Amino acid sequence: MIEQTELTSVRRFQSAPRRQHLLDVGDIDDGDLTRLFRRAAALQTGGLTPASLRGQVVATLFFEPSTRTRISFELAAQRLGALTMPVDVGRSSLEKSESLYDTLQTLAAMGVTMAVVRHRDSAVFAGLAERTELCLLNAGNGIAAHPTQALLDAYTLTQHLGSLRGRTIVICGDIRHSRVARSNLQLLPRLGARVILCGPPQLVPELGLLTADNAVSYEPLDAAIAQADVIMCLRIQRERHPQPAAEAGQAPHQDSASYLSSYGLTEERFARARPSCVILHPGPVNRDIEIAGALVEHPSSLILEQVRNGLYVRMAILEWIAGVLP
Ligand code: CP
Repeated sequence: MIEQTELTSVRRFQSAPRRQHLLDVGDIDDGDLTRLFRRAAALQTGGLTPASLRGQVVATLFFEPSTRTRISFELAAQRLGALTMPVDVGRSSLEKSESLYDTLQTLAAMGVTMAVVRHRDSAVFAGLAERTELCLLNAGNGIAAHPTQALLDAYTLTQHLGSLRGRTIVICGDIRHSRVARSNLQLLPRLGARVILCGPPQLVPELGLLTADNAVSYEPLDAAIAQADVIMCLRIQRERHPQPAAEAGQAPHQDSASYLSSYGLTEERFARARPSCVILHPGPVNRDIEIAGALVEHPSSLILEQVRNGLYVRMAILEWIAGVLP
């Protein structure tokens, strides 16, 4: 007869192995972060066509629009030898009230091993990560997190600046509704950077609601730009603003021209930055609202470099998830 203690250990043995997920940058420890960036650099410079993800099937489920994140994840998976399965969520059984959990379990039963999910709900992963048989990669959830964007931002900056220790990074725009800002606020101070946030009062939450890190502060835009090694501009995320009409009547963020002159990165403002200062933007860019159109192609703009690097960083992330990161 099997004793109770033996039953417990059998059950423990039979329980599913813990899945590796990437829900925010805190899921990656410092050692793995170093390996991830080293691997992305090797993929970038080596022109490699590895098959490290052969046998994996990567589904993409995007409940919000995307160009960069969805396509670079799909290309990254294909470049590593995985099969990709873009799920048209609007024509799936999710439209017949199937839960996301049941959809993911259904995909797993068909051999899908990883799911890249973007969703408008900040809490979409609550309770999913523990139960699903798939590895989950967060491609942006509500205002909460966009870890792969923060990782590719930090990778791009380390390629340009070397260490981020002691660097000043200004993030300006719609901080309140930005998952990119939240993930970067976790990652950049971890890498030794100081972060200054700027934006119109309607679009910046209390600092304590974002972070307790002493390396993060608010400052007026012109004062911040004078100190910046990096300026990261953020789009006004109107799709997340309360409807109808935003918080305070005809607020500056509802009028493009006055937004650019008051809170955006104009050519005049950028001319007052240090000569070595570089510009980031996660995209999509709304020209002449948060950033002057001419600055998008400025020699100091790394915006398309961020997009290029996103492919290599996401390749390394997929290898990390699969447990095959060298
Ligand atoms: N930065 C970003 O998430 O862009 P997409 O919405 O195009 O994926």
